Amino acid sequence: MRIPFGTISVTEKSKNLIADILASNRLSSGKYVREFEKKFAGVVGATQAVAVSSGTDAVALALAVLYDFGAERGDEIIVPALSFVATGNAILQAGFVPVFVDVDNKSLNIDPSQIENVITERTRAIIPVHLMGKPADMDAIDDIAQKNNLYVIEDAAEAHGAVYKGRNIGTLGDMAAFSLYVAHIITTIEGGIVTTNKPDFAEVLRSLRSHGRACKCESCVLNTASAYCAKRFKHADSADIRFLFERVGFSTKMNEMEAAIGIGNIDEYDDILCRRRENLYYLMEKFGKFEPCLATIRKESYEEIGPHALPIVVQDKAQFTRNTLAGHLEKNGIDTRNLFSSMPTQCPGFSFLGHKIGDFPNSEYIGNHGIHIGVHQDLGKQECDHVLDTVEEFLSENT
Ligand SMILES: Cc1ncc(COP(=O)(O)O)c(C=O)c1O
Repeated sequence: MRIPFGTISVTEKSKNLIADILASNRLSSGKYVREFEKKFAGVVGATQAVAVSSGTDAVALALAVLYDFGAERGDEIIVPALSFVATGNAILQAGFVPVFVDVDNKSLNIDPSQIENVITERTRAIIPVHLMGKPADMDAIDDIAQKNNLYVIEDAAEAHGAVYKGRNIGTLGDMAAFSLYVAHIITTIEGGIVTTNKPDFAEVLRSLRSHGRACKCESCVLNTASAYCAKRFKHADSADIRFLFERVGFSTKMNEMEAAIGIGNIDEYDDILCRRRENLYYLMEKFGKFEPCLATIRKESYEEIGPHALPIVVQDKAQFTRNTLAGHLEKNGIDTRNLFSSMPTQCPGFSFLGHKIGDFPNSEYIGNHGIHIGVHQDLGKQECDHVLDTVEEFLSENT
Protein backbone atom coordinates (compact mmCIF):
# COMPACT_ATOMS: atom_id res chain seq x y z
CA MET A 1 0.00 0.00 0.00
CA ARG A 2 1.28 3.53 -0.87
CA ILE A 3 0.40 6.45 1.33
CA PRO A 4 1.73 9.56 -0.39
CA PHE A 5 2.13 12.72 1.67
CA GLY A 6 -0.11 14.82 -0.55
CA THR A 7 -2.61 14.68 -3.36
CA ILE A 8 -4.38 17.07 -5.66
CA SER A 9 -8.04 17.19 -6.63
CA VAL A 10 -8.37 18.52 -10.20
CA THR A 11 -12.10 18.65 -10.83
CA GLU A 12 -13.95 18.37 -14.15
CA LYS A 13 -14.98 21.99 -13.71
CA SER A 14 -11.30 23.02 -13.42
CA LYS A 15 -10.39 21.05 -16.53
CA ASN A 16 -13.19 22.69 -18.51
CA LEU A 17 -12.28 26.13 -17.23
CA ILE A 18 -8.63 25.60 -18.16
CA ALA A 19 -9.64 24.58 -21.70
CA ASP A 20 -11.76 27.74 -21.98
CA ILE A 21 -8.97 29.91 -20.59
CA LEU A 22 -6.42 28.48 -23.04
CA ALA A 23 -8.83 29.00 -25.92
CA SER A 24 -9.44 32.60 -24.83
CA ASN A 25 -5.73 33.53 -24.78
CA ARG A 26 -6.43 35.53 -21.60
CA LEU A 27 -4.03 33.62 -19.36
CA SER A 28 -2.45 36.11 -17.00
CA SER A 29 -4.27 37.28 -13.85
CA GLY A 30 -7.84 38.20 -14.76
CA LYS A 31 -11.46 37.37 -14.04
CA TYR A 32 -10.88 33.83 -12.74
CA VAL A 33 -8.28 35.03 -10.26
CA ARG A 34 -10.84 37.63 -9.11
CA GLU A 35 -13.50 34.89 -8.80
CA PHE A 36 -11.13 32.66 -6.85
CA GLU A 37 -10.28 35.51 -4.48
CA LYS A 38 -13.95 36.20 -3.79
CA LYS A 39 -14.66 32.52 -3.17
CA PHE A 40 -11.63 32.08 -0.92
CA ALA A 41 -12.58 35.17 1.11
CA GLY A 42 -16.05 33.64 1.48
CA VAL A 43 -14.65 30.33 2.74
CA VAL A 44 -12.50 32.06 5.34
CA GLY A 45 -15.12 34.65 6.25
CA ALA A 46 -12.89 37.63 5.46
CA THR A 47 -14.01 40.57 3.35
CA GLN A 48 -10.83 40.71 1.24
CA ALA A 49 -8.49 38.17 -0.34
CA VAL A 50 -5.52 38.91 -2.57
CA ALA A 51 -4.00 36.00 -4.50
CA VAL A 52 -0.28 35.71 -5.17
CA SER A 53 2.06 33.05 -6.48
CA SER A 54 3.13 31.33 -3.25
CA GLY A 55 2.43 31.13 0.45
CA THR A 56 5.90 32.54 1.07
CA ASP A 57 5.04 35.63 -0.97
CA ALA A 58 1.74 35.87 0.89
CA VAL A 59 3.69 36.23 4.17
CA ALA A 60 6.24 38.61 2.62
CA LEU A 61 3.58 40.84 1.04
CA ALA A 62 1.48 40.97 4.21
CA LEU A 63 4.60 42.22 6.00
CA ALA A 64 5.52 44.68 3.24
CA VAL A 65 2.06 46.27 3.63
CA LEU A 66 3.24 47.52 7.02
CA TYR A 67 5.65 49.96 5.33
CA ASP A 68 2.58 51.95 4.29
CA PHE A 69 1.41 51.95 7.90
CA GLY A 70 4.41 53.16 9.89
CA ALA A 71 6.94 50.32 9.72
CA GLU A 72 10.52 50.91 8.61
CA ARG A 73 13.04 48.61 6.97
CA GLY A 74 14.98 46.73 9.63
CA ASP A 75 12.08 46.70 12.10
CA GLU A 76 11.55 43.48 14.03
CA ILE A 77 8.96 40.76 13.55
CA ILE A 78 8.34 38.16 16.25
CA VAL A 79 7.96 34.63 14.96
CA PRO A 80 8.18 31.09 16.37
CA ALA A 81 11.60 29.49 15.94
CA LEU A 82 9.91 26.33 14.63
CA SER A 83 8.18 26.67 11.28
CA PHE A 84 8.68 25.72 7.69
CA VAL A 85 11.66 27.86 6.71
CA ALA A 86 9.46 29.93 4.39
CA THR A 87 8.16 31.98 7.34
CA GLY A 88 11.65 33.18 8.24
CA ASN A 89 12.67 33.63 4.61
CA ALA A 90 9.62 35.80 3.96
CA ILE A 91 10.46 38.12 6.87
CA LEU A 92 13.98 38.65 5.54
CA GLN A 93 12.76 39.00 1.95
CA ALA A 94 10.35 41.71 3.07
CA GLY A 95 13.26 43.65 4.65
CA PHE A 96 12.50 42.98 8.32
CA VAL A 97 14.50 41.25 11.05
CA PRO A 98 13.05 38.01 12.45
CA VAL A 99 13.06 37.77 16.24
CA PHE A 100 12.52 34.18 17.27
CA VAL A 101 10.60 32.75 20.20
CA ASP A 102 10.62 29.09 21.20
CA VAL A 103 7.50 26.95 20.76
CA ASP A 104 5.47 25.04 23.29
CA ASN A 105 6.45 21.39 22.89
CA LYS A 106 2.86 20.10 23.07
CA SER A 107 1.07 22.48 20.69
CA LEU A 108 4.16 23.01 18.46
CA ASN A 109 3.12 26.69 18.37
CA ILE A 110 4.74 29.89 19.65
CA ASP A 111 4.89 30.05 23.45
CA PRO A 112 3.11 33.33 24.28
CA SER A 113 4.71 33.52 27.73
CA GLN A 114 8.07 34.23 26.04
CA ILE A 115 6.89 36.91 23.62
CA GLU A 116 7.02 39.98 25.84
CA ASN A 117 10.68 39.28 26.74
CA VAL A 118 11.74 40.05 23.16
CA ILE A 119 9.60 43.11 22.39
CA THR A 120 11.66 46.23 21.68
CA GLU A 121 11.06 49.74 20.30
CA ARG A 122 11.48 48.30 16.81
CA THR A 123 9.00 45.43 17.10
CA ARG A 124 6.17 45.91 14.59
CA ALA A 125 4.33 42.59 14.35
CA ILE A 126 3.86 39.06 15.63
CA ILE A 127 3.47 36.19 13.21
CA PRO A 128 1.78 33.25 14.92
CA VAL A 129 2.17 30.14 12.76
CA HIS A 130 -0.72 27.67 13.11
CA LEU A 131 1.64 24.75 12.63
CA MET A 132 0.05 21.56 11.27
CA GLY A 133 -3.26 23.44 11.28
CA LYS A 134 -3.42 23.67 15.07
CA PRO A 135 -4.49 27.18 16.07
CA ALA A 136 -1.91 29.18 17.99
CA ASP A 137 -2.93 30.63 21.38
CA MET A 138 -4.56 33.67 19.76
CA ASP A 139 -6.17 35.19 22.87
CA ALA A 140 -2.80 35.53 24.56
CA ILE A 141 -1.12 36.73 21.36
CA ASP A 142 -3.83 39.32 20.63
CA ASP A 143 -3.61 40.64 24.21
CA ILE A 144 0.14 41.13 23.89
CA ALA A 145 -0.24 42.71 20.45
CA GLN A 146 -2.88 45.14 21.65
CA LYS A 147 -0.95 46.09 24.74
CA ASN A 148 2.18 46.77 22.71
CA ASN A 149 0.57 48.24 19.60
CA LEU A 150 1.75 45.45 17.29
CA TYR A 151 0.21 44.05 14.14
CA VAL A 152 -0.69 40.35 14.00
CA ILE A 153 -0.19 38.44 10.76
CA GLU A 154 -1.31 34.82 10.90
CA ASP A 155 0.81 32.32 9.00
CA ALA A 156 -2.14 30.11 8.11
CA ALA A 157 -0.29 28.28 5.33
CA GLU A 158 -1.25 24.93 6.87
CA ALA A 159 -4.45 25.96 8.60
CA HIS A 160 -7.26 26.02 6.02
CA GLY A 161 -10.47 25.20 7.86
CA ALA A 162 -9.08 25.67 11.35
CA VAL A 163 -11.30 27.33 13.94
CA TYR A 164 -10.35 29.02 17.22
CA LYS A 165 -13.08 29.68 19.79
CA GLY A 166 -15.75 29.92 17.12
CA ARG A 167 -13.72 32.18 14.81
CA ASN A 168 -12.09 31.06 11.60
CA ILE A 169 -8.34 31.07 11.29
CA GLY A 170 -7.56 33.71 8.71
CA THR A 171 -9.75 36.33 10.41
CA LEU A 172 -7.99 36.59 13.77
CA GLY A 173 -5.27 39.10 13.01
CA ASP A 174 -4.74 42.10 10.74
CA MET A 175 -3.93 39.80 7.84
CA ALA A 176 -3.43 36.08 7.28
CA ALA A 177 -1.27 34.28 4.73
CA PHE A 178 -2.31 30.92 3.27
CA SER A 179 -0.29 28.61 1.05
CA LEU A 180 -2.09 27.06 -1.91
CA TYR A 181 0.78 24.74 -2.73
CA VAL A 182 -0.19 21.36 -4.09
CA ALA A 183 -0.25 19.42 -0.81
CA HIS A 184 -2.47 21.98 0.94
CA ILE A 185 -6.21 21.71 1.56
CA ILE A 186 -7.24 24.25 -1.08
CA THR A 187 -4.64 24.32 -3.82
CA THR A 188 -3.90 26.18 -7.02
CA ILE A 189 -0.80 23.93 -7.61
CA GLU A 190 1.56 26.80 -6.71
CA GLY A 191 0.02 29.80 -5.03
CA GLY A 192 -0.75 31.78 -1.93
CA ILE A 193 -3.37 34.22 -0.73
CA VAL A 194 -3.66 36.93 1.91
CA THR A 195 -6.96 37.48 3.69
CA THR A 196 -7.85 40.63 5.60
CA ASN A 197 -10.88 42.64 6.65
CA LYS A 198 -9.09 45.90 5.88
CA PRO A 199 -9.73 47.27 2.38
CA ASP A 200 -6.77 49.68 2.65
CA PHE A 201 -4.43 46.74 3.33
CA ALA A 202 -5.90 44.81 0.39
CA GLU A 203 -5.29 47.78 -1.88
CA VAL A 204 -1.61 47.92 -0.93
CA LEU A 205 -1.36 44.13 -1.37
CA ARG A 206 -2.67 44.46 -4.93
CA SER A 207 -0.05 47.09 -5.64
CA LEU A 208 2.74 45.05 -4.04
CA ARG A 209 2.03 41.90 -6.04
CA SER A 210 2.45 43.83 -9.26
CA HIS A 211 5.74 45.71 -8.80
CA GLY A 212 4.33 48.33 -6.43
CA ARG A 213 2.22 49.97 -9.13
CA ALA A 214 -0.08 52.88 -8.39
CA CYS A 215 -2.93 51.01 -10.07
CA LYS A 216 -4.52 48.59 -7.66
CA CYS A 217 -8.21 48.29 -8.45
CA GLU A 218 -9.94 45.22 -7.08
CA SER A 219 -10.86 44.24 -10.62
CA CYS A 220 -8.86 45.63 -13.53
CA VAL A 221 -10.85 46.48 -16.66
CA LEU A 222 -7.78 45.94 -18.81
CA ASN A 223 -7.17 42.49 -17.36
CA THR A 224 -10.74 41.32 -17.25
CA ALA A 225 -12.40 42.87 -20.28
CA SER A 226 -9.62 44.49 -22.35
CA ALA A 227 -11.67 47.64 -22.04
CA TYR A 228 -10.71 51.26 -21.75
CA CYS A 229 -9.35 52.35 -18.33
CA ALA A 230 -10.73 55.75 -17.47
CA LYS A 231 -8.39 56.12 -14.50
CA ARG A 232 -5.16 55.51 -16.38
CA PHE A 233 -4.08 59.11 -16.94
CA LYS A 234 -6.11 60.66 -14.11
CA HIS A 235 -3.25 60.61 -11.60
CA ALA A 236 -1.34 63.73 -10.56
CA ASP A 237 0.59 65.24 -13.52
CA SER A 238 -1.38 62.91 -15.81
CA ALA A 239 1.10 60.12 -15.04
CA ASP A 240 0.22 56.66 -16.36
CA ILE A 241 -0.75 54.83 -13.15
CA ARG A 242 0.30 51.52 -14.64
CA PHE A 243 3.86 52.79 -14.79
CA LEU A 244 3.97 54.77 -11.60
CA PHE A 245 5.60 52.67 -8.89
CA GLU A 246 4.60 53.87 -5.43
CA ARG A 247 6.42 51.33 -3.30
CA VAL A 248 9.07 48.60 -3.62
CA GLY A 249 7.05 45.77 -5.07
CA PHE A 250 7.19 42.10 -5.91
CA SER A 251 6.25 40.22 -9.08
CA THR A 252 3.92 37.57 -7.75
CA LYS A 253 0.59 37.42 -9.53
CA MET A 254 -1.49 34.27 -9.80
CA ASN A 255 -2.45 33.19 -13.32
CA GLU A 256 -5.86 32.17 -14.64
CA MET A 257 -5.14 28.43 -14.89
CA GLU A 258 -4.00 28.27 -11.28
CA ALA A 259 -7.18 30.11 -10.27
CA ALA A 260 -9.24 27.56 -12.23
CA ILE A 261 -7.72 24.72 -10.19
CA GLY A 262 -8.50 26.66 -7.02
CA ILE A 263 -12.11 27.35 -8.03
CA GLY A 264 -12.63 23.60 -8.57
CA ASN A 265 -11.09 22.88 -5.18
CA ILE A 266 -13.38 25.34 -3.45
CA ASP A 267 -16.39 23.58 -4.98
CA GLU A 268 -15.21 20.38 -3.27
CA TYR A 269 -13.87 22.08 -0.17
CA ASP A 270 -16.46 20.80 2.32
CA ASP A 271 -15.90 17.24 1.19
CA ILE A 272 -12.09 17.55 1.12
CA LEU A 273 -12.05 19.15 4.57
CA CYS A 274 -14.38 16.56 6.05
CA ARG A 275 -12.42 13.58 4.70
CA ARG A 276 -9.08 15.01 5.80
CA ARG A 277 -10.43 15.88 9.24
CA GLU A 278 -11.87 12.40 9.71
CA ASN A 279 -8.46 10.90 8.89
CA LEU A 280 -6.59 13.31 11.15
CA TYR A 281 -8.86 12.94 14.16
CA TYR A 282 -8.98 9.15 13.79
CA LEU A 283 -5.18 8.94 13.74
CA MET A 284 -4.80 11.45 16.59
CA GLU A 285 -7.14 9.48 18.79
CA LYS A 286 -5.46 6.13 18.07
CA PHE A 287 -1.99 7.59 18.60
CA GLY A 288 -2.73 7.84 22.32
CA LYS A 289 -1.76 4.17 22.64
CA PHE A 290 1.80 4.89 21.40
CA GLU A 291 2.64 7.08 24.38
CA PRO A 292 5.17 7.40 25.99
CA CYS A 293 7.29 6.77 22.86
CA LEU A 294 5.41 8.93 20.38
CA ALA A 295 3.36 12.09 20.76
CA THR A 296 1.13 14.05 18.47
CA ILE A 297 -0.93 17.21 18.95
CA ARG A 298 -4.25 17.17 20.80
CA LYS A 299 -7.47 18.91 19.95
CA GLU A 300 -8.87 21.28 22.56
CA SER A 301 -12.65 21.60 22.98
CA TYR A 302 -12.61 25.20 21.70
CA GLU A 303 -10.88 24.50 18.41
CA GLU A 304 -10.94 22.64 15.13
CA ILE A 305 -7.60 21.71 13.66
CA GLY A 306 -6.98 22.41 9.97
CA PRO A 307 -6.27 18.85 8.79
CA HIS A 308 -2.99 19.47 6.98
CA ALA A 309 -0.99 16.46 8.23
CA LEU A 310 -0.36 14.32 11.31
CA PRO A 311 2.71 15.42 13.30
CA ILE A 312 4.58 12.74 15.26
CA VAL A 313 7.32 13.57 17.76
CA VAL A 314 9.59 10.81 19.06
CA GLN A 315 9.75 11.28 22.83
CA ASP A 316 12.96 11.09 24.85
CA LYS A 317 11.86 7.81 26.47
CA ALA A 318 11.99 6.08 23.09
CA GLN A 319 14.94 3.83 22.32
CA PHE A 320 14.98 4.60 18.61
CA THR A 321 15.62 7.64 16.48
CA ARG A 322 13.27 9.67 14.29
CA ASN A 323 15.15 8.43 11.24
CA THR A 324 14.73 4.74 12.07
CA LEU A 325 10.99 5.29 12.52
CA ALA A 326 10.79 7.28 9.27
CA GLY A 327 12.78 4.58 7.49
CA HIS A 328 10.37 1.89 8.67
CA LEU A 329 7.34 3.91 7.55
CA GLU A 330 8.90 4.64 4.15
CA LYS A 331 9.75 0.94 3.69
CA ASN A 332 6.07 0.23 4.24
CA GLY A 333 4.92 2.73 1.64
CA ILE A 334 4.17 5.66 3.98
CA ASP A 335 5.66 8.99 2.90
CA THR A 336 7.17 11.04 5.70
CA ARG A 337 8.41 14.60 6.01
CA ASN A 338 10.53 16.03 8.80
CA LEU A 339 8.66 18.31 11.17
CA PHE A 340 10.75 21.28 10.04
CA SER A 341 13.60 22.87 11.98
CA SER A 342 14.45 25.60 14.40
CA MET A 343 14.99 28.27 11.76
CA PRO A 344 17.61 30.32 13.67
CA THR A 345 19.72 27.40 14.87
CA GLN A 346 19.10 24.46 12.54
CA CYS A 347 18.85 26.27 9.17
CA PRO A 348 22.38 27.31 8.09
CA GLY A 349 21.01 30.20 6.02
CA PHE A 350 20.04 31.98 9.25
CA SER A 351 23.43 31.63 10.97
CA PHE A 352 24.34 35.27 10.17
CA LEU A 353 21.74 36.26 12.79
CA GLY A 354 24.08 34.91 15.48
CA HIS A 355 21.93 32.40 17.36
CA LYS A 356 23.39 29.19 18.78
CA ILE A 357 22.14 25.67 19.37
CA GLY A 358 20.44 25.55 22.76
CA ASP A 359 18.72 28.95 22.34
CA PHE A 360 15.40 27.33 21.29
CA PRO A 361 15.35 23.90 22.99
CA ASN A 362 11.79 22.85 22.17
CA SER A 363 12.04 23.87 18.52
CA GLU A 364 15.39 22.12 18.22
CA TYR A 365 14.05 18.98 19.87
CA ILE A 366 11.14 18.84 17.43
CA GLY A 367 13.53 19.65 14.58
CA ASN A 368 15.53 16.54 15.52
CA HIS A 369 12.70 14.24 16.55
CA GLY A 370 9.60 15.16 14.54
CA ILE A 371 8.00 13.92 11.34
CA HIS A 372 4.64 14.46 9.69
CA ILE A 373 2.61 12.24 7.43
CA GLY A 374 -0.32 12.79 5.06
CA VAL A 375 -4.01 12.75 6.00
CA HIS A 376 -5.32 13.85 2.61
CA GLN A 377 -8.67 13.27 0.93
CA ASP A 378 -7.55 10.25 -1.12
CA LEU A 379 -6.86 8.31 2.07
CA GLY A 380 -9.47 6.52 4.13
CA LYS A 381 -9.80 4.25 7.14
CA GLN A 382 -7.95 1.39 5.45
CA GLU A 383 -4.89 3.57 4.81
CA CYS A 384 -5.05 5.05 8.33
CA ASP A 385 -5.18 1.54 9.78
CA HIS A 386 -2.13 0.64 7.69
CA VAL A 387 -0.27 3.58 9.27
CA LEU A 388 -1.35 2.49 12.76
CA ASP A 389 -0.40 -1.16 12.17
CA THR A 390 2.97 -0.16 10.76
CA VAL A 391 3.74 2.05 13.76
CA GLU A 392 2.58 -0.66 16.15
CA GLU A 393 4.78 -3.24 14.47
CA PHE A 394 7.75 -0.86 14.64
CA LEU A 395 7.20 -0.20 18.33
CA SER A 396 6.89 -3.88 19.14
CA GLU A 397 10.28 -4.46 17.53
CA ASN A 398 11.93 -1.38 19.05
CA THR A 399 10.76 -1.14 22.68
C1 LIG B 1 4.01 27.32 7.84
C2 LIG B 1 4.29 27.63 6.40
N1 LIG B 1 4.48 28.91 6.03
C3 LIG B 1 4.70 29.24 4.75
C4 LIG B 1 4.73 28.29 3.75
C5 LIG B 1 5.07 28.71 2.36
O1 LIG B 1 4.16 28.33 1.39
P1 LIG B 1 4.61 28.05 -0.13
O2 LIG B 1 5.29 26.73 -0.17
O3 LIG B 1 3.32 28.08 -0.87
O4 LIG B 1 5.52 29.18 -0.53
C6 LIG B 1 4.53 26.95 4.07
C7 LIG B 1 4.55 25.92 3.03
O5 LIG B 1 4.07 24.84 3.14
C8 LIG B 1 4.31 26.60 5.43
O6 LIG B 1 4.14 25.32 5.80
